[in-house]
Amino acid sequence: MDLYDSVVARTVERGGTAVALGGLDSGKTSFCRMCAAVAVRLGSTVAYVDSDVGQSTVGPPTTIGLKFISSADDLEPERLARADAIYFVGSTSPKGHMLPMVIGAMKLVEQARAAGADLIVVDTTGFIHGTQGQVLKIHKVEALRPEAVIGFQRGGELEPILGSVRRMLPPEVDALSVDPAVEATSVEERASLRQEGLRRFFEPPLNHWKVKTSVFVPSIPPELDPASLDRLLVGLEDGKGNCIGLGILEHREDGLRMISTEGEGAKALRLGSVRVTEDFGTTGVDLRDIFISD
Ligand SMILES: Nc1ncnc2c1ncn2[C@@H]1O[C@H](COP(=O)(O)OP(=O)(O)OP(=O)(O)O)[C@@H](O)[C@H]1O
Ligand SMILES: [Mg+2]
Repeated sequence: MDLYDSVVARTVERGGTAVALGGLDSGKTSFCRMCAAVAVRLGSTVAYVDSDVGQSTVGPPTTIGLKFISSADDLEPERLARADAIYFVGSTSPKGHMLPMVIGAMKLVEQARAAGADLIVVDTTGFIHGTQGQVLKIHKVEALRPEAVIGFQRGGELEPILGSVRRMLPPEVDALSVDPAVEATSVEERASLRQEGLRRFFEPPLNHWKVKTSVFVPSIPPELDPASLDRLLVGLEDGKGNCIGLGILEHREDGLRMISTEGEGAKALRLGSVRVTEDFGTTGVDLRDIFISD
């Protein structure tokens, strides 16, 4: 048995929560799916928490997703994409969204724990570099309280994070070398995967709503021109702490409207930081630029 297989076996046997860390194209998702596949074959209750808001495996881009895996079929990409629960971060990158990234992952891991999952695998973004990357991953590990952290690296790029976790926090840490067979995904492919993920989530039939400006979180300044909210992505909140779907705002002459994946039940709209084109392309927006009064 090679090192990779033995880390998979140990992760499954240990159970609890296991967080996969690594840069872009380092094998994080493959590892999570492999562990989930082995565990489900052995009869364990498995949950997959996907906190990668860009290259999403569970749920649409801009969200963190939770999927309970009850059979090998649930690990097929199309099935895995259909989340049991999502948390709206509203961005395809963690930059500037550290709090929702950590809180969202923590909420969904807690939900999986409360449901009695034997193994919770946590997939993450490739945002590991610099102080920001370290700050995000260390706080995420601290918040998720995993039993294990599995790092994938080419050189020593993850050492600052793994070293801090080893020094400071309880999980067992395994470092694996990225398999040379791992293929890179180009920037264009990544953008097109995000686009497809959103398109799939916004599959018709869709709902059209009039939107009151009082429902936004964060609340919008009274002097804000509603036209600046046109095509902004929003998360639909049910008022009990759950995200029930996504919407796209549309500014019309007669007021603000929303195309949404849900018919009813939204009590608040969390404002995202991306605009969505008609064909589901995304561009980042800084809400502070819209809320000029800040
Ligand atoms: N151990 C491995 N051996 C061979 N190929 C692998 C291995 N792990 C992953 N791959 C392949 O490499 C590619 C990237 O892997 P994967 O999607 O798991 O990486 P990732 O770190 O999740 O990437 P991303 O940054 O896009 O989320 C995939 O096509 C996958 O099939
Ligand atoms: Mg991945």
